[in-house]
Amino acid sequence: MNVTTYFVIIGVSGFPALQLPIFLIVFIMYLLTLGGNMIIFLLVCFDRNLHTPMYFFLANLSILDICCSTVSLHKVIIAFISANNTTSLTDCLVQIFIFLCLTCDELLILTAMSYDRYVAICVPLHYHQIMNHKVSGLLAVMCWVSGVLESIPTFMELLKLKCFISNKINHFFCDIIPLMKLSCSNTSVLQLYILIVGGFACGFIPFALTFISYVFIIFTILKIKSSAGRRKAFYTCSSHLTVVTLLYTSLVFQYLRPNSSIDLSFTKFSSLFNTAAIPVLNPLIYSLKNKDVKTALRRRIQYTDLPHKSTLM
Ligand SMILES: *[C@@H]1O[C@H](CO)[C@@H](O)[C@H](O)[C@H]1NC(C)=O
Repeated sequence: MNVTTYFVIIGVSGFPALQLPIFLIVFIMYLLTLGGNMIIFLLVCFDRNLHTPMYFFLANLSILDICCSTVSLHKVIIAFISANNTTSLTDCLVQIFIFLCLTCDELLILTAMSYDRYVAICVPLHYHQIMNHKVSGLLAVMCWVSGVLESIPTFMELLKLKCFISNKINHFFCDIIPLMKLSCSNTSVLQLYILIVGGFACGFIPFALTFISYVFIIFTILKIKSSAGRRKAFYTCSSHLTVVTLLYTSLVFQYLRPNSSIDLSFTKFSSLFNTAAIPVLNPLIYSLKNKDVKTALRRRIQYTDLPHKSTLM
């Protein structure tokens, strides 16, 4: 009988000796992701100086980072603690669907952020008119919704997978490619969807739009006469540019390799980088490189100190 109802998740490494160190690293990164992104989200919610589209989008990104790493890492953490690394097919499919939606959402939100930077730098005089609350809110909703809509066709195709040659998933969570590789059903339509929806609609189009925004941004910055002005303009988009570069580079390493040579252990490590390290880096990049966020953080810390000072007086 070939009816597979549960899967065994092999984990990050097949070597038992590496299990504890890898678990600790993943767990610490996960806690840092939760902490760092929660701080960014709360700062943007409560600090009026951060009530601009750019920081609202950043808050969206923080929530996405938290969800994304929870979806992909919770199995590693639970499996280690409970010593049970099995999962049902339904769980696995739900996990894949949520992960697809979130990854696509994240790339779209980053694209919306690059449009925001484009407007801020290339048409600064009309910034508040173009990027008002309504427009930025609508953009955010569109990103979230289209990320979900774009994942539906791939997911429907995934549901058709019935037969599996093995129930051992050589990965640390249910990811689409490792699962597809286990199937003995015909996966050609699924592969086509992954390429067209995942690669083109969620990957290439956001990348192209981001790239075009930055071409305009760089040309505009180069035309600024004073070097102080140039630096200031570049400064407002340097955090975003860093995050975008990191994310696309790691996605290319993970997915853009010739199909025949997909080496699952390499894929595992680059996907560990994507799901564990990148969500930690985002808030770090924004808080270390960004004066507004640093000032807001300092203000919050001082603010919570204030009652002590006043009781002393
Ligand atoms: C996402 O961004 C939009 C647009 O700026 C904003 O209105 C909304 O509050 C943000 N949502 C979250 C959860 O940060």
